Amino acid sequence: MSTLITGIGELSTCTDAGILDDAAVLIEGGRIAWVGPSADASPVPTIIDAAGRALIPGFVDSHSHLVFAGDRAAEFEARMAGERYAAGGIRSTVAATRAATDAALRERLAGFIAEMQAQGTTTVEIKSGYGLDVDTERRLVRLAAEVTGEVTFLGAHVVPTEFADAPDAYVDLVIGPMLDACAADARWIDVFCEEGAFTVEQSRRVLEAGITRGLMPRIHAGQLGPGEGVRLAVELGAASLDHGTYLSDADVAALAASDTVLTLLPGVEFSTRQPYPDARRLIDAGVTVAIACDTNPGSSFTSSMPFCIALAVREMGMTPAEALRAATAGGARALRRDDIGVIAAGARADLVLLDAPSHVHLSYRPGVPLVHSVWKDGVLIASRA
Ligand code: NIG
Ligand code: FE
Repeated sequence: MSTLITGIGELSTCTDAGILDDAAVLIEGGRIAWVGPSADASPVPTIIDAAGRALIPGFVDSHSHLVFAGDRAAEFEARMAGERYAAGGIRSTVAATRAATDAALRERLAGFIAEMQAQGTTTVEIKSGYGLDVDTERRLVRLAAEVTGEVTFLGAHVVPTEFADAPDAYVDLVIGPMLDACAADARWIDVFCEEGAFTVEQSRRVLEAGITRGLMPRIHAGQLGPGEGVRLAVELGAASLDHGTYLSDADVAALAASDTVLTLLPGVEFSTRQPYPDARRLIDAGVTVAIACDTNPGSSFTSSMPFCIALAVREMGMTPAEALRAATAGGARALRRDDIGVIAAGARADLVLLDAPSHVHLSYRPGVPLVHSVWKDGVLIASRA
């Protein structure tokens, strides 16, 4: 079945082809078959008139923690009154998640997915990490695998209370029985390499064990202070280093010379009142950047890619076009995918029609729901009409 979307006022390809005006897209079999001027489109039985609206690729949200129970609104409230964010808060979500049934976690997860899709996200990566025991981590990766192919095993999120005096023994558990239980349902291995979580040596053990099991590495680092996470990420060929709030010039140069994407998470700086990283410094140095929501109950409880784009433009120095590209093609790079995040022939037909004439409105009109229609694999999955 073919569908033609025509009358697109502004089409952001998020490739080097840039922006096309008065464009059309032909969808066939879930893929984009053709992109070009509306005037050159051949008619097909199903035609959608975009009436001058802007079309962008579906957002690729390459970092989230969606399988958990409870929330930490009181922690946020205390932060807004001056408390600092620390990794230890993760343990309260672990207690709530361990106590929750699969059915309850599945229902919450489905709610987040629907919320994200309505805001234009067509691909989401989901991490485990609120179980921190073999049985619960296995449950979390399986639940995540029910809704996405981009599942990350994050048993090394923080050391759980019962291992407080024996962090290395916990790492042994993560890279042994826990990895055995989770590897089959995951594509990625991740670790929180930070003060209060795991040292760079422990992080190396975790990532190397995952690589041995066929998982690809990504890393949380540089969120709360500087560290050696970039060196490790680049050395191990991680697809992405996420956060990067604190990076030295040597870190920036190392990332620029590598294939590791830097995934910026502006919702975290918003919610933790930390300084926003300077995306201009990164982009001008040649670093490939992505933007993701990092949806989680502690450091960033937004699921809105448009909100994160607006923050990246206003607070991190990105142009609206750079921020859109980071939230689409950049996220795809961070997941080592070349079939999503762009509007080009051959790519998956993951598309978002905005109720606006230009992608600039994503940051120009912050907080306003601008998503008109969302297609995933050529199927309409959300529409305001
Ligand atoms: O990406 N940094 C580690 N993990 C999450 C926060 C998790 C939490 O606070 O519950 C993050 O920010
Ligand atoms: Fe995270």
